[in-house]
Amino acid sequence: MILVTGGAGFIGANFVLDWLSHSEEAVVNLDKLTYAGNQENLASLEDHPGHVFVQGDIADTALVTDLLARYRPRAVLNFAAESHVDRSIHGPETFIQTNIVGTFRLLEAVRAHWGGLQGGDKAAFRLLHVSTDEVYGSLSPTDPAFKETGRYEPNSPYSASKAASDHLVRAYHHTYGLPVVTTNCSNNYGPFHFPEKLIPLMVVNALAGKPLPVYGDGQQVRDWLYVKDHCSALRRVLEAGRLGETYNVGGWNEKPNLEIVHTVCGLLDELRPRSDGKPYATQITHVTDRPGHDRRYAIDASKIEQELGWRPAETFETGIRKTIQWYLDNPAWVANVQSGAYQHWVHKNYSARAA
Ligand code: NAD
Ligand code: TYD
Repeated sequence: MILVTGGAGFIGANFVLDWLSHSEEAVVNLDKLTYAGNQENLASLEDHPGHVFVQGDIADTALVTDLLARYRPRAVLNFAAESHVDRSIHGPETFIQTNIVGTFRLLEAVRAHWGGLQGGDKAAFRLLHVSTDEVYGSLSPTDPAFKETGRYEPNSPYSASKAASDHLVRAYHHTYGLPVVTTNCSNNYGPFHFPEKLIPLMVVNALAGKPLPVYGDGQQVRDWLYVKDHCSALRRVLEAGRLGETYNVGGWNEKPNLEIVHTVCGLLDELRPRSDGKPYATQITHVTDRPGHDRRYAIDASKIEQELGWRPAETFETGIRKTIQWYLDNPAWVANVQSGAYQHWVHKNYSARAA
């Protein structure tokens, strides 16, 4: 059995679904069900005997301790986090609480559990901490892509809190010998992506006839990875990653935001043309930039390729087409996540951004 935290969120839910489609090994899924956690993402597992869902907080030491004692997982994968940069700018405190204090409490509970294991169980145990490329800061257009040896230079409250969590994980290996591996991945996209993030926001706004808000000049660059490729990388790192190491995970796919938005618009023009025949790109609006906006992220994923033989299976072209098709095929999911709380967030983040 494995214990997954944050498994009702975007990447965690994709991971749980992916895991159970590849393995007989059961999953205990601990998720607080914040605004970003959605049990609908796991609806297809409702009667699955290999999936145990527990609503709770990674910072709840008694609960985590109890789950570890009861289920005796051979591994813990930590996806649970506050994950949205813009929300971290409006309200950093929950990021400190979950990403730093939560990770610390999880580490303490896992350390106590692991300390009590014997022999083969102890040797086989793993903690896989899922992190982000944003901890490395921002690149100029000509800088080489992020390597695992790069300096941590986080620039947002989100990335700073993730950087702190990575440091704690590293320290627990160095000091206590806890068997950890950390992954630092680039921007994911795919099914179940909450429409506060760039790609799903553009899809839902386009279909609703709303403006497509591009921050600043839209020339900020991100590396994009289809979420199921991230899942396969995590399975591989859990299987063969070296203890105490970090692995950068990316799609070899750097693109400026404006190009991403035009690609989304072009695919929607093809798959669900506007009733007036005009292109969706006419909805693009440049709005006030994000404060402290990182200009470029790029991942050098050669370590995971050379050591573990992992490479993404999808190109951006194949992955984005699948993603757009998924949103078109799942209008009920899209409608349900756009609740009152979501509308409140949209108002908070976009009403003050002048076009
Ligand atoms: P998400 O915001 O979609 O989901 C986060 C999940 O964690 C939600 O289900 C939420 O309910 C749960 N959660 C939040 N606080 C919790 C707590 N205190 N205890 C238990 N559960 C809690 O995030 P995501 O995009 O799926 O990201 C998952 C992980 O991957 C995060 O650690 C994030 O930093 C990392 N990551 C994300 C990306 C990306 O592009 N989305 C890229 C690289 C790394
Ligand atoms: P996002 O999906 O929030 O991921 P991250 O900030 O973690 O990379 O944003 C991706 C890029 O898209 C980022 O450069 C900010 C930009 N962006 C917009 O231009 N408009 C938007 O409405 C959003 C949400 C993001």
